[in-house]
Amino acid sequence: MKIGIVGCGAIGETICRAFDQGAINANLTALSDRDPASAQELADSLVNMRPKVMDTSALIDAVDLVVECAAQSAVPDIAIPALEKGRDVMILSIGALINEKLWGRIKSLAREHNCRVYLPSGAVVGLDGLKSASMAKMSSVVLTTMKHPSGLQGAPYIEQHKIDLNALKKATVIFEGCAEDAVSVFPANVNVAATLSLAGIGAKNTRVRIIADPTLSRNVHEICVEGEFGKFETRVENVPSLDNPRTSYLAALSTIATLKKIVDEIQIGT
Ligand SMILES: NC(=O)c1ccc[n+]([C@@H]2O[C@H](COP(=O)([O-])OP(=O)(O)OC[C@H]3O[C@@H](n4cnc5c(N)ncnc54)[C@H](O)[C@@H]3O)[C@@H](O)[C@H]2O)c1
Repeated sequence: MKIGIVGCGAIGETICRAFDQGAINANLTALSDRDPASAQELADSLVNMRPKVMDTSALIDAVDLVVECAAQSAVPDIAIPALEKGRDVMILSIGALINEKLWGRIKSLAREHNCRVYLPSGAVVGLDGLKSASMAKMSSVVLTTMKHPSGLQGAPYIEQHKIDLNALKKATVIFEGCAEDAVSVFPANVNVAATLSLAGIGAKNTRVRIIADPTLSRNVHEICVEGEFGKFETRVENVPSLDNPRTSYLAALSTIATLKKIVDEIQIGT
């Protein structure tokens, strides 16, 4: 299987290194980034893989599976042409899929062209349980995300409400609402809210709380799910990735694990 990565930032680079170390039994064929020089630098730093740097449309032509780890705004321009050409797609900027029109188009193109669309678990744990639980009636899904205030800097909600993150001395609830609203005002931070929504009860019914806590050095996500199956709670304390403090290292690892799941013979877990 030939794989191409669009977006050579924190996640893209971690995936490339995993390929280079032989962790994924497939060919890393192509890289693309809106900054081609940084993609070339990454390609040149690899020892065992020799991906070619190309623009996104050439990459789509060259591979079987396109991995998007670029930006929410890039998702339509990557996923739609890739699916139209019969390519499988993996999407990391899952917040983009809260847009029902885009998600509907992606699903119908995948059906029409017999392609697979993969959405890795990303920075959250417990999707296995949520997927199982959603096979029966569910009553609530609540995500509580806790981050150091610097991890929320620049988000539209912070700007709109003129919140001085530097002034916070203790854990403070910054936002409470449905996942649909959370994703639009914290676009770079709440991909997990979108993933939970798609796997569970939808973006209008999934509740999100965002807490800024100056004592935290890790990004924490807690989920609480209730339904006919009973109730479960999970909590993960994520180490931020070195290259992008907004991105949890686990998100990159989950992409590597999903790629392995696609190519490996043995499948463990839901
Ligand atoms: N699903 C999850 O749980 C999860 C977790 C963390 C991050 N993410 C998302 O994954 C994406 C990548 O995260 P990251 O930390 O690697 O980001 P990053 O900012 O470190 O890297 C993104 C890279 O993509 C490139 N890029 C941006 N727009 C592009 C475009 N239109 N075409 C080509 N390249 C483009 C940038 O130049 C940059 O090199 C982000 O959208 C982020 O929100 C998802």
